[in-house]
Amino acid sequence: MGQDIKGKVAYITGAGSGIGRATALALAQEGVHVGLIARTKNKLEAVAREAESHGVKANYKVADIAHSEQVNQAITSMENNLGPADILINNAAIGAYGNFLDMDPDTWKHTLEVNVFGTYHVTRAVLPQMIKKNQGDILMISSSNGLKGTAGSTSYSASKFAIQGMTEALMQEVRKNNIRVFTLNPSLVATELAFGDQLAEKNDDKYMQPEDLAEYMVSLLKLHPRIFIKQSLQWATNPF
Ligand SMILES: NC(=O)c1ccc[n+]([C@@H]2O[C@H](COP(=O)([O-])OP(=O)(O)OC[C@H]3O[C@@H](n4cnc5c(N)ncnc54)[C@H](OP(=O)(O)O)[C@@H]3O)[C@@H](O)[C@H]2O)c1
Repeated sequence: MGQDIKGKVAYITGAGSGIGRATALALAQEGVHVGLIARTKNKLEAVAREAESHGVKANYKVADIAHSEQVNQAITSMENNLGPADILINNAAIGAYGNFLDMDPDTWKHTLEVNVFGTYHVTRAVLPQMIKKNQGDILMISSSNGLKGTAGSTSYSASKFAIQGMTEALMQEVRKNNIRVFTLNPSLVATELAFGDQLAEKNDDKYMQPEDLAEYMVSLLKLHPRIFIKQSLQWATNPF
């Protein structure tokens, strides 16, 4: 009933660790060629090698998504190496935690520069490829913090609420081009972003794991092209 995603091309931001890494590898296992973007070369290189072991092409580019010229160069290079994107996973983001008055304005602003403008730059660079093909899937990784603010996360929440607005409007705009825009809103996932150096203690069944999100994304992408899940929330079974 659904569609086969083997042979498609996916670009994934923040692919060096956490949810982005797990998603890149899950897609590679499904036969999807992957283009990987983040700032840390050695992590990207390791994910690319692991992806290639599944028999797909993998290409990585170091870029800070907050800078449009770096993004444009990375996307052009990926298009040349892998072909135009069928799938874009807008996953890269930073966390920033601290009370409103304690957080310095530069940190506050930088969160929005990466999480909002970064996502905007990447989407702006990739969307023309999808419009040209009259087909595409964009997955936006927002957050439960993008639906409900929590104390100590004003800049992160503001950035993720902005993603909701941008995504909803974009989704309405590009439906006519057969482009599906999915927004995912995970609660706590066992990654560095959420747990920092405590992460090693969180690799058990009490916490959602990056691989759970990756498996879910693969299932979304395999849906028949006539349907998409515009918004979804992912929660851990156990309260903590
Ligand atoms: N973990 C959670 O509890 C949770 C919950 C809800 C939503 N999310 C969302 O899930 C997504 C993935 O986060 P994660 O939890 O997997 O965290 P993570 O392991 O810290 O991954 C974030 C990725 O983004 C990259 N990145 C950060 N800033 C970047 C920049 N300026 N340019 C390019 N790449 C950049 C990082 O690599 P470099 O540092 O090498 O650039 C890293 O690969 C984020 O959008 C996050 O907001 C996470």
